[in-house]
Amino acid sequence: MIVNDALKIIKQRRSIRSYKDEQIKEEELRAILEAGLYAPNAGGQAWHFTVIQNKELLDRLNLAAKEAAKHMDMEHLRELGNNEKFNCLYGAPVLIIVSGNVQVPVPLEADCAAATQNLLLAAESLGLGSCWIFFVMLAFNSPQGSELRKELKIPEGYKPYYSAVFGYKKDAVVNVPDRKPNLITYIK
Ligand SMILES: Cc1cc2nc3c(=O)[nH]c(=O)nc-3n(C[C@H](O)[C@H](O)[C@H](O)COP(=O)(O)O)c2cc1C
Repeated sequence: MIVNDALKIIKQRRSIRSYKDEQIKEEELRAILEAGLYAPNAGGQAWHFTVIQNKELLDRLNLAAKEAAKHMDMEHLRELGNNEKFNCLYGAPVLIIVSGNVQVPVPLEADCAAATQNLLLAAESLGLGSCWIFFVMLAFNSPQGSELRKELKIPEGYKPYYSAVFGYKKDAVVNVPDRKPNLITYIK
């Protein structure tokens, strides 16, 4: 099996759900964002990255998402919304939201997902933890949703698709689950 730095980072990255309080360094943040900007894209870079490092705003996003979750059809989400101890951002000091321009005539989800994955891999390459977070996007379905969009300065015509948190890992990753077998078909 070939091993190199990029392949090691891909296999090593895991979703981290416990973070130190400490803010990450500016140069680390810039490197992560730059990796996002270099992702493949069909829409001609029709994406936008919102970086949130304000703790009070992060707390409000968590609470708004949890409030919205309480009214969702999925029981799992309702349970998390009602769990007082649950913080959907896991106390991470940075949240990056990736939005796409809905006027572009290609589906921007793929572009934004590719960018998000680049952010996660760049973080891992710097020794930082990260986790892709769907849950916090529920905040935009909450009564404060449109107010939050304004406060976050998400550009007009852009839809927030994905988000991820970043920070210094509190615990080292120990358990890397095996990959499922038989997920590949070869036709030669
Ligand atoms: C689209 C998407 C949404 C996700 N949303 C959440 C989330 O809201 N909260 C969370 O803790 N993890 C979330 N994850 C992380 C997955 O749970 C995680 O990637 C999966 O369990 C595999 O674990 P690994 O990332 O450690 O390999 C999300 C992942 C993806 C791709």
